[in-house]
Amino acid sequence: MSDKQQIITIDGPAGVGKSTVSRMVAAATGFTYLDTGAMYRGVGLFLQEQGVDLTDSSAIKRLLATLDLQLLPAFDKNCDVGVLVNTRDVSDAIRTPEMAMVASNVSALPVVRDYLTTIQRNYGEKGGIVAEGRDMGTVVFPDAAYKFFLDAKAEERARRRFSQLKAKGVDADLNEILAMTRTRDKNDSERQIAPLMQAADAVRIDTTEISVDEVVSLILKKIKKER
Ligand code: DC
Repeated sequence: MSDKQQIITIDGPAGVGKSTVSRMVAAATGFTYLDTGAMYRGVGLFLQEQGVDLTDSSAIKRLLATLDLQLLPAFDKNCDVGVLVNTRDVSDAIRTPEMAMVASNVSALPVVRDYLTTIQRNYGEKGGIVAEGRDMGTVVFPDAAYKFFLDAKAEERARRRFSQLKAKGVDADLNEILAMTRTRDKNDSERQIAPLMQAADAVRIDTTEISVDEVVSLILKKIKKER
């Protein structure tokens, strides 16, 4: 067994299938699934509701000190992780395309990243987690034993998001989703701190033309080989 942190990191851009893959890898390994995007969404919703000036980092820091952010476990592979913001269930409210943009915007703020990076490292302290996000393998858990970076063409990712929203009965427009996907890609990969990028030691998997089951099986095979 590797002496690195027993953590599996799964990073990649919006809509690449990270959540489904991460939940399935967590179920197969017995590790706990950590959805860090849900955390950024929860913080985004909280700061938006507080109406704080996003250029005022001291005010944001004071507000974050009053925030109790809780993750609720996903019940099965088709179910998103839930979030409580100061005990209020915001699980559905954070899953809209608008909240994804808000999360992307607040995620560029150093004060927000410091706050969540600390919480995420606490979750990972004892190992045994599948950490999904943008900077898991690069910044939050650089010593993770198994690192993966999922990628797919923006058009394909937008199409998948569109189908997911449709399935949930959410009215969506494919062109709008594609435009938002591209904006988020740009925001997330061009920000100053912890930008979306592949860790040098991560395994890259292009999911454009392969199924979720195939991605999971590639990941499990790689982990088994190294364990
Ligand atoms: O994975 P997601 O779509 O739920 O993430 C929402 C936003 O949160 C994403 O556009 C960028 C930000 N995020 C981040 O900056 N770092 C992470 N580790 C996870 C998400």
